Amino acid sequence: MADRTSWWQRGVIYQIYPRSFMDASGDGVGDLRGIADRLDYLEWLGVEAVWISPFYPSPMADFGYDITDHTAVHPLFGDLEDFDALVEEAHRLGIRVLLDYVPCHTSAEHPWFVESRSARDNPKRDWYIWCDPAPDGGPPNNWVAMFGGAAWTFDEGTGQYYNHAHLVEQPDLNWRNRAVREAMLGVMRFWLERGVDGFRVDALRHLIKDEKLRDNPPNPDYRPGDRPFDALLPVYNTDRPEIHDAIREMRRLLDAYGDTTMVGELYLPIERLVAYYGENGSGVHLPANFHLISTPWNAREISALIDAYEGVLPPCAWPNWVLGNHDRSRVATRVGTAQARVAAMLLLTLRGTPTIYYGDEIGMHDVRIPPEGVQDPFEKQTPGLGYGRDPARTPMQWTPDRNAGFCPPAADPWLPLADDYRAVNVAAEREDPTSTLTLHRRLLALRRAEPALAVGSYEPVMAAGDLLAYAREHHGRRFLVALNLGHEPLSSEAPAFEGRVALSTRLDREGEEVVGGVLRLRGDEGVVIEGV
Ligand code: NOJ
Repeated sequence: MADRTSWWQRGVIYQIYPRSFMDASGDGVGDLRGIADRLDYLEWLGVEAVWISPFYPSPMADFGYDITDHTAVHPLFGDLEDFDALVEEAHRLGIRVLLDYVPCHTSAEHPWFVESRSARDNPKRDWYIWCDPAPDGGPPNNWVAMFGGAAWTFDEGTGQYYNHAHLVEQPDLNWRNRAVREAMLGVMRFWLERGVDGFRVDALRHLIKDEKLRDNPPNPDYRPGDRPFDALLPVYNTDRPEIHDAIREMRRLLDAYGDTTMVGELYLPIERLVAYYGENGSGVHLPANFHLISTPWNAREISALIDAYEGVLPPCAWPNWVLGNHDRSRVATRVGTAQARVAAMLLLTLRGTPTIYYGDEIGMHDVRIPPEGVQDPFEKQTPGLGYGRDPARTPMQWTPDRNAGFCPPAADPWLPLADDYRAVNVAAEREDPTSTLTLHRRLLALRRAEPALAVGSYEPVMAAGDLLAYAREHHGRRFLVALNLGHEPLSSEAPAFEGRVALSTRLDREGEEVVGGVLRLRGDEGVVIEGV
């Protein structure tokens, strides 16, 4: 099987948030040259591919997810020459490059929207979703935007509302319009021709809305303090059946460029998520599975999640797992520093492609942002509710020097650095044989050396108390992964535990025999046991 799998199944994807990864130009914001300079680090770490969040021209209302030109580079990040150099260097090092593809919306300053809103009879009018006001003059229906507020904004000039699933500054494209599809497929083609290996597709569940624009029903489980978006069940503005047809077109295009991949951003329940693999695999290669982020961190619930997911995957569908991204609190903050190492072992030994969010490999935490320093529009629209995304987007910590080596000492980083950067940084952790970074590198090396851990079968073994144990097997090589999801030591006995410790999250038990099937784990410890 190892020989029949693709790179995007065997390898690990690493997400780079370009504003915060490495600043080569010295203006306090990361850039493409900065990324290119640090590719050797990613090669050393052992990742297969990078996914780079948007670096396109943008007024930055949503930090690059509001695009004015999908086929260019914002000067803040460099230019197309820098991009080409980055791809060339990545490929030289054997690293694939995935771009963020944002098909659902543009910036309100995109020339298409400027034209569209200029007059009702403008040829680009139908490129966006326009609708007359309701009889009372209000929005056409009750849809709520992701960051709060109505999903409709009134345009005084032409007397109609336009639809936006996110910010007012992010009008949604009308994917029912053939010309829009062609233009947006052309964007994919542009980057594929420049050598990229695939895309992460933004906000995919929002791509096409109900044709009749019906009202969403109320959410009976909504509690005060939940996101405003969750007050309604998004049945008519997300996850519509027509989306699959658009995905098939994207997929056909991608397939013409060889062994490429498409990761879909899809916050959906598992049963709905797996529909995005498409009939006979004609859909998204990896519908992103975010459920480790939202599932309570205990052995029973995590085990039930894995079983539920494995249980509904269609034949030939390849699983994937995510622990963090630029929209969610960091894993080390959610589960704690010590447990984050166990979480890393889980992520990197489950069946399926893992995505690592930049900085998680060194144990970065969320950083508290003072109210006057808030950048994120989500926090500005829902202040104090805890939805702000700046805390998980702070500069990468490279060295113990001022500004953590992210930007020159005299520069002013666009978001504050974590207080702990003098200890938690790449330079220090590279030298430390027991660091979180060393653990990640060892786990990645073990996955590469042992196909059982990358592409092998998955078998649940035990979920009792704080212990979660499962087996991975490939061509007769069998590994047992045992994770203590609690802080107290535990001991458990099972014939499956017989073997030799290949790796502990503490990095100090390698080679130890597990005799008589009696396994002892320290608090916050996980082990990979090589079967004998
Ligand atoms: C999902 C992206 O990950 C998020 O950062 C962005 O705000 C929305 N989509 C809108 O593009």
